[in-house]
Amino acid sequence: MFVQIETERTSTLYERVGGDPFFFALVERFYAAVEDDALLRPLYPADLARPRRRLALFLIQYWGGPHTYNAERGHPRLRMRHLRFPIGPTQRAAWLAHMRAAVESSDASASDAQALLSYFETAATSLMNRPA
Ligand code: HEM
Repeated sequence: MFVQIETERTSTLYERVGGDPFFFALVERFYAAVEDDALLRPLYPADLARPRRRLALFLIQYWGGPHTYNAERGHPRLRMRHLRFPIGPTQRAAWLAHMRAAVESSDASASDAQALLSYFETAATSLMNRPA
């Protein structure tokens, strides 16, 4: 008897949203908003190309894509890398508002958008280093 074996593979969010281009576009929209934000803009370097690339590569890696971020930057150590920037509830809220808008204007499915948004909320909370 011939038995056909179905191999089941769970897809990653990275694959479902369309891979690298999704994350580069997301980060592009996010930084376009940061560019006009008087509270956040001064925290970033004059040239946003480097932060843009790093955030995109980090998210690609986090959501199941290639590990180029680690190859270029080593272990993320995000909390440590954010310590030199004052991040209180106001900065967190501003950062999240831009990221929420970027996610909501993407074509991710409702459940993938929800997964991205709840991840960003938790991550942004963990990076706070000032009470106010
Ligand atoms: C909560 C508000 C946040 C603020 C104000 C903030 C601000 C910054 C700033 C100023 C940099 C440095 C950019 C540079 O000099 O190249 C940076 C880097 C970075 N941020 Fe944030 N960030 C926030 C939240 C987040 C969150 C939630 C994530 C991830 C989900 C994130 C991921 C990153 C990454 C991956 C880098 C580059 C790290 C590296 O390789 O050096 N940030 N952030």
